[in-house]
Amino acid sequence: MNLASARKVDPEQPFDRDPQRSYTIPAHYYLDPELLEAEKTAVFYRNWWYAGHHSQLAEAGCYLTVQICEQNVIVIRDKDGELKAYYNVCQHRGHELLFGSGKVRTITCPYHAWSYGFDGALRAARNCEQLADFDKCKFALKPVRVEVFCGLVFVNLDPDAAPLGEQAAGLEQEIREFCPRVDEVVFAQRDEYAVACNWKVMIDNFLECYHCHPAHKDFVSLVDMDSYRVRTHGIYSSHVSNAARSTDNNAYHFEKGEVDFGYAGWFLWPNLTIWIYPGEPNISVLQMIPDGVGRTIEYQDWYLPNPEPTPQQRDAMDYQRDVLQPEDIGLCESVFRGLQSKGYNQGRFIVDPERSELSEHGVHHFQALYLDAMGADF
Ligand code: FES
Ligand SMILES: [Fe+2]
Repeated sequence: MNLASARKVDPEQPFDRDPQRSYTIPAHYYLDPELLEAEKTAVFYRNWWYAGHHSQLAEAGCYLTVQICEQNVIVIRDKDGELKAYYNVCQHRGHELLFGSGKVRTITCPYHAWSYGFDGALRAARNCEQLADFDKCKFALKPVRVEVFCGLVFVNLDPDAAPLGEQAAGLEQEIREFCPRVDEVVFAQRDEYAVACNWKVMIDNFLECYHCHPAHKDFVSLVDMDSYRVRTHGIYSSHVSNAARSTDNNAYHFEKGEVDFGYAGWFLWPNLTIWIYPGEPNISVLQMIPDGVGRTIEYQDWYLPNPEPTPQQRDAMDYQRDVLQPEDIGLCESVFRGLQSKGYNQGRFIVDPERSELSEHGVHHFQALYLDAMGADF
């Protein structure tokens, strides 16, 4: 299937701006390797991509690396305390410069030892004095945009992208409401999952709780589903339940925390979700990273006021890792097999005017953002 035909929407089963009239996007959007290639430039190389947390870059020379499809980026703290980001590639003959995360005094290439300052300038290139017309200034590292948002570090390969705080106006205020100590948290744990489905299946799944009663029996005993509401705003959506059942539930027991609520989660275009569970302060992010059309790597990074979880935070993290995530992964992998069936192409969104727990307008919001990014005609 070529890209032009893939972008056309079936007039008999159209994706509509109105979620109550709209069909879901056709199955081939989840299956076509050519579309995944197009997503790299249309989606991932021009939007804000979660890289980590500012607490992981506490001192000058602390760095982390982040992989965005084929592009690898270094984020490093300079001597003035500013964060800098660069494509992770040596300007000599293209070796990668840094790996994983850590702390360095200079950025030195492992291949022939060209070295760069934290400002990206080429400082030393062995034997370069022998060359005619060699100008070190022409061999600085190529910069990448970097921003901190609610303590989280984001990078963007598009030099002209609008700041994340501007694009997601209102999101920071909402996160602070449910996690007032968001500035104090530090990295506690990364859980990683390899899932046999397209990345968009996982985003679709997060964006509705229509499946929660049939598929998440413990979750619906933790949060008050009658107050669960999904609201869409620009490039993000909020998924919030006001009341929690602290002891009378099957997920985990907790004392009411600084903020009394049931559950708060956000989707941030294109591939990040942010979660806050009731009880002692916590915030976690879950990033869906495409690894081929039929495989997604999920990182769930937990941030707590304390690097070692308290027993209650541990219970919340274990519930997520051992119960909720496996439930969702099973659903997503089944949907991905179903999308390959000759007996399915598109469905409809279930939507209600109250935007209740049963409404799937959040999925429609994501799919509209996606179709717009891909240049689809609808
Ligand atoms: S490729 Fe980096 S020094 Fe040669
Ligand atoms: Fe779920």
